Amino acid sequence: MTEKTQNQMWGGRFAAGPDAIMEAINASIGFDKRMAAQDIAGSRAHAAMLAAQGIISDSDAAAIREGLLTVLSEIEGGTFAFSTALEDIHMNVEARLKELIGEPAGRLHTARSRNDQVATDFKLWVRDQLDAAEGGLVALLRALLGQAEAGADWVMPGFTHLQTAQPVTWGHHMMAYVEMFARDLSRVRDARARMNESPLGAAALAGTGFPIDRDLTAEALGFDRPSANSLDAVSDRDFALEFLGVASICAMHLSRFAEELVIWSSAQFRFVTLSDRFSTGSSIMPQKKNPDAAELIRAKVGRIMGANVGLMTVMKGLPLTYSKDMQEDKEQVFDAADNWMLALAAMEGMVRDMTANRDALAAAAGSGFSTATDLADWLVRELGLPFRDAHHITGALVAKAEAKGCDLPDLSLADMQEVNPDITDGVFGVLGVENSVNSRMSYGGTAPAQVRMQIDRWKERLT
Ligand code: ARG
Repeated sequence: MTEKTQNQMWGGRFAAGPDAIMEAINASIGFDKRMAAQDIAGSRAHAAMLAAQGIISDSDAAAIREGLLTVLSEIEGGTFAFSTALEDIHMNVEARLKELIGEPAGRLHTARSRNDQVATDFKLWVRDQLDAAEGGLVALLRALLGQAEAGADWVMPGFTHLQTAQPVTWGHHMMAYVEMFARDLSRVRDARARMNESPLGAAALAGTGFPIDRDLTAEALGFDRPSANSLDAVSDRDFALEFLGVASICAMHLSRFAEELVIWSSAQFRFVTLSDRFSTGSSIMPQKKNPDAAELIRAKVGRIMGANVGLMTVMKGLPLTYSKDMQEDKEQVFDAADNWMLALAAMEGMVRDMTANRDALAAAAGSGFSTATDLADWLVRELGLPFRDAHHITGALVAKAEAKGCDLPDLSLADMQEVNPDITDGVFGVLGVENSVNSRMSYGGTAPAQVRMQIDRWKERLT
């Protein structure tokens, strides 16, 4: 048996190297090389701790830590030769370290295993992504606040069932998304706080007999504390699932907003004009400006949610502790993270650049009998009618307007009095869209004064 056919990390027990297909199914280096920086940070912290505890010598630790920096610069510089035979990032890095510094490299793996190592690397990677998502969400929230502030009192139709319901303000609509994305931000922060425990030192599964100091490595890597159960530490992928769960909900929000932008930018709506920077043209129809960024954002939830379901399915039947199934955790999380960050950035850019068409919004706000509820409320307030009766009368007035092909404010007083003789011309005061939105002063309502109060509250919270 030559060195080449045996695996240099566990060759001792093996008489032959792996079949090519075994190597192909087993190797993760093709994707886990994305965790190189985290792997090297974890190993450097581990080596320093081993020396501090007198488990390896200071000079070995220094050589290891220095050598690892060289490995990192080779990887970052693109000169590192990754090997599939070495299976994953952990063994690729260690093998190169051995080439660089010789014998001390073999001491790095004392008191640890690839099981706690991979859990640590992956946690650090996911934690970075949560931080990136936090930045992306804050930027998006700021862009939404900018839109809300510009049009705090611009009227537009509010919809239920995508049918005109009641007039609302543009600012109010933008602030609805502020609430949604702010909940995503809070979920990101919660997930980060919960996941921030260090698996390093759990070793293969049972801990180690070496006198390690897990607090030291936890602190060096920015964790709040070491995880308290070594079996759980190496078999836990909740942090990745929670990441995907948070990402899925946020992607669903992004998708809903994207859907509105697709509708709003159509020739039939014209509520918004998207900037050229976030639109594309058609190669055959010269008049077209397509909302491709919005459409792609709308679609991203598919793969992100898919990753969530995929990893949940991988994990659901696994006995404690580590199983190789868990190597299938990374690609889905990498893909979901890449696409979540891209969708956040694209949405932020689109929101920042888009123009709300105030006139089109106002014209639409007044159509579709949008002030029918205000009319019914007026009948209750001024004529003392029970709301149910007022609702019925208003329905009859809407039917009358519909038959005449006009909107509610276009009915004459005589038309109105045919339905209820007690109606006075005071009713026309509430049929105006501006009056309608200004009257909705209940907390969280659409009145511009309420909307501005919420804008101020969020601006303060985001600084
Ligand atoms: N490449 C492996 C993974 O991603 C590393 C851990 C391997 N551990 C083991 N006991 N084989 O999960």
